[in-house]
Amino acid sequence: MCGIIGYTGPRVATEVILDALKKLEYRGYDSAGVAISGSSIQIHKDKGEISVMESTLPHFLGGVGIGHTRWATCGKPSKPNAHPFADCTGSIALVHNGIIENYAEIKRKLIEDGHIFTSETDTEVLVHLIEKHNHGDLRQALVAALSEVRGTYAIVLLQKDSDRILATRKENPLVVGLGVGENFVASDVTALLNYTNKVLYVMDDEIVELDPRKVTIYDPSGIPVERKPSLINWSADEAQKGGFEHFMLKEIFEQPEAIRNTLRSNLEAVESGNLLSKTDFPSIKIVACGTSYHAALVGKYVLEKVAKVPTTVELASEYRYGSGAKEHPLVVLISQSGETADTLAAAREARRRGCQTLAITNVVGSTLTREVDEVFYTRAGPEIGVAATKTFITQLIALYLIAMRVGDGRRSLSRDDLRAFRSELLRLPQVVRSVLDSSPQVEEATDMLVEARDIFFLGRNINFPIMLEGALKLKEISYIHAEGYAAGELKHGPLALLDSKTPTVAACPRDHTYDKMLSNVAEVQARDSPVLAIGFQGDRDLEQVASKVILVPEVPPLFSPFPITVALQLLSYYVAKRKGCSIDKPKNLAKSVTVE
Ligand code: M6R
Repeated sequence: MCGIIGYTGPRVATEVILDALKKLEYRGYDSAGVAISGSSIQIHKDKGEISVMESTLPHFLGGVGIGHTRWATCGKPSKPNAHPFADCTGSIALVHNGIIENYAEIKRKLIEDGHIFTSETDTEVLVHLIEKHNHGDLRQALVAALSEVRGTYAIVLLQKDSDRILATRKENPLVVGLGVGENFVASDVTALLNYTNKVLYVMDDEIVELDPRKVTIYDPSGIPVERKPSLINWSADEAQKGGFEHFMLKEIFEQPEAIRNTLRSNLEAVESGNLLSKTDFPSIKIVACGTSYHAALVGKYVLEKVAKVPTTVELASEYRYGSGAKEHPLVVLISQSGETADTLAAAREARRRGCQTLAITNVVGSTLTREVDEVFYTRAGPEIGVAATKTFITQLIALYLIAMRVGDGRRSLSRDDLRAFRSELLRLPQVVRSVLDSSPQVEEATDMLVEARDIFFLGRNINFPIMLEGALKLKEISYIHAEGYAAGELKHGPLALLDSKTPTVAACPRDHTYDKMLSNVAEVQARDSPVLAIGFQGDRDLEQVASKVILVPEVPPLFSPFPITVALQLLSYYVAKRKGCSIDKPKNLAKSVTVE
């Protein structure tokens, strides 16, 4: 996610801004910039690290400024796409976090009115839209502009010849730092801790006006509101993690937002047919590594069920050894980083074989995006923990949306089916939130696993790959040996390994696999292996057969991977925590694997 800072006071603003931006570096970014107000607005920005931008930064002397670290979402990482952006006359400049969904339509109209754009970003339309509405009262212009905008944002805005900064938010964090004779606004308290620990949290649709002397918060109807400052006693490290002990846990808890953002920025393209304009390919092949490969396996079930397209899945490292079928499938390449060497090699091979290619990635402008015909961006925000969590869940969202698009394109889904599918997708942030709310229960269930040397993870149908992922997550961060199995395979070998010291985790949603899963649970318990079953709320039968249960909200069978995934992520996290493991940086692993 991008980082924002605004400062107004007696200090040299660039010094405060650079210091604050460096505190926000941990969030991940690809470019950085500052704007300083004076008799004109001076802007300096560049692609790459803050130090690159800093090395050529002129001596801007003003005490009012804004700064930004950008994580590209709309438009590749580049100098023109870096923030801040100024209006046509250079009277106002702003920085923005979030997504403006209807920016293309607004941009078209503004261009007709004579506005000139210099970037590919959605953000730049905001500054021009505010300019259009600015007849002297900047706060009113901001309100008027935002009434035309659909999307999410945290915006910080300054104007020339003024020590006033304006800021507002919708579904993006924004916090004001209160100083003596100076004030701050930032996306994250981490940026403020060197200067103040007294903060005001801004709520959605409120507008904040700051100058060195005072801070005023206006509610959405323009009435000033009283807010009591909060005192922050986090260390910088705690603040970076938003109060969570590890980035992994923070990222697990960010999933409702990550799902919402991924849906929001892709649903329109899916429903209007702008994604995959041709859907008449004979089959689909999905290629990926690690966690992304598990998402691919889930995708196979969804695509075959919903879109009725034959789908195969291959490990990226194995794809090159195939000769390539005579028919030309759509090849979908999944990589959260977009930099995994094996997946890049597979993308090149797919094109060499003459296949249409589509990438699913979380990183705008990553190498993979340049190797394929079309890109689907997940909007999970940067993931810092090596173990993929929120990027996995948003890859699932991507695959469900692609299934929806292909199903629609091939007429295998009726209007009613599409509507029902859509509404289940929109319900997922709430479903995931409710699993997160039950994290103390999940933590308690770790008693069964924490001493084990080996653990089996069993599931059927669409939850078989989810259990593969559950096992990978656990082994990666807790160093416990874990194996995922299709539950039906148990008696073909692994049963020989079960005993009282080898617990089993079983996915038992109440769906068409339920009875068979219950038999598997009984089969395992009969070999003295204690079973931790994950089922739907209200399921009393499960308690009768399993040693322990975790209950998650009931959803239609096709959507059960979502709550079960979150329960498994929490389970791995709490086991690893109890074992005192290095959760965010497991030994021998890297966040992106750039060698074959
Ligand atoms: O960036 P990618 O999605 O291509 O990465 C693929 C794997 O390296 C990755 O999923 C890995 O398995 C994760 N550490 C799992 O948590």
